[in-house]
Amino acid sequence: MNAFLTSLGAEFSFSLSDAQNLITAFHEEMRLGLAGKPSSLKMLPAYIGRPSGRERGQFLALDLGGTNLRVLAVALDGRGDARVTAASRFTVSEAFMRGDGDALFDFIARCVALFFEEHPIHYTKPLHLAFTFSFPVAQKAVNAGTLLNWTKGFCAAGVQGRDVVSLLSAALARRGLEAIRVTALANDTVGALMAKSYSDPACDMGVILGTGTNACYPEDPARFSQKSVLPGLREMVINMEWGDFDRMDVNRYDRRLDAATLNPGRQRLEKMVSGMYLGELARLIVCEMIDEELLLNLDTRSFFERDHAVTSEDLSQAAAGGDFFCQAGIKGATKRDRETFSRIARLVSTRAARIAAASIGAVVLWMDPNLSRRHVVAVDGALFAKYPGFPETMKALLAEMFSDTPKAISLCLAPDGSGIGAAVIAAVAADLHSTETIP
Ligand code: GLC
Repeated sequence: MNAFLTSLGAEFSFSLSDAQNLITAFHEEMRLGLAGKPSSLKMLPAYIGRPSGRERGQFLALDLGGTNLRVLAVALDGRGDARVTAASRFTVSEAFMRGDGDALFDFIARCVALFFEEHPIHYTKPLHLAFTFSFPVAQKAVNAGTLLNWTKGFCAAGVQGRDVVSLLSAALARRGLEAIRVTALANDTVGALMAKSYSDPACDMGVILGTGTNACYPEDPARFSQKSVLPGLREMVINMEWGDFDRMDVNRYDRRLDAATLNPGRQRLEKMVSGMYLGELARLIVCEMIDEELLLNLDTRSFFERDHAVTSEDLSQAAAGGDFFCQAGIKGATKRDRETFSRIARLVSTRAARIAAASIGAVVLWMDPNLSRRHVVAVDGALFAKYPGFPETMKALLAEMFSDTPKAISLCLAPDGSGIGAAVIAAVAADLHSTETIP
């Protein structure tokens, strides 16, 4: 047992020198991505810079990033304050995630209609809607972009390679909601950055640690070669799509997990870090330990054979002292079994938090190699917000990495970046009149 756990610890370790190697590789991939060369970091321009904090108005935000779809009304007061004035949440069933694309967009339009039934809000027309669509999108303007590939278990047919704003606008029109104009398209990372920087100009990075993981930051337009710079824009937010970063050592559980996904070989960092996958890694370890007769007993094996039988919420509850086996109705678990499960949860989540922190360190060093100013990182997502100890583990690695400048990087929870941030994007987009496509 001890030998197994020691070797498991080694397989899931992510040392300071691993962090340093990650930073070097990140910078190489960032350079390639910005130069438009093949790279595991796509570095997608978002056609927007950060807000001034003076943007104001009422906006509708639509947030699709995982199994939840949200429709929100957001009011910006022009003095850095943003308020969600109405919100509805819907569940996207697997049938829509994996079915026909038009059906998915019709479902989204139906949810918008239901939102208006629930909240009879009066707006002047046209009503500006910002669409937070948290998948890799090649934008051509702040309100146009094609889906490059699905992630996070989505595979709805007929959407890849198409402009998601057109698909949404057509679905809204089919539903009789022509008065709604899709003014802006945004990634959730961009939403988090915009939401926080609306009130804090020191914020220069948006990170999501939730079902998926990703980050964005403002880049100097002179540093990227793609002919996508809008004249007059002093900075361009870049959606890195860091979930696809693939220059890290993986272990046999990572390989097994990857092989069973809808997108093998892709989103390698995401599969080591994000909420959609941490439970799966733990489940694969549990299966192996049952087979080796180190955990529970063979009768419990069938429970753990089901994909996603263990979720990151389960790991989170175990980290908070909960008894997963009891909650799952698994009989006969001993104290030692429970301790082993907590240890597995800790190994998997600690590695995730350390990789996330090293990735943040890499981006901050890219922006400011000498760490000569303060960087506020807006982070959203359940792993950061709810997993016990996750933020602390990240901060500990950052403190190890930057022991000379311990206060240079602050990680801040930016709750509801996707909703509020989308409204800020719509407001900035309206101010910039930046909705034309650059050839
Ligand atoms: C996935 C998506 C990315 C998104 C992230 C967090 O990695 O590809 O666009 O930002 O999940 O939701």
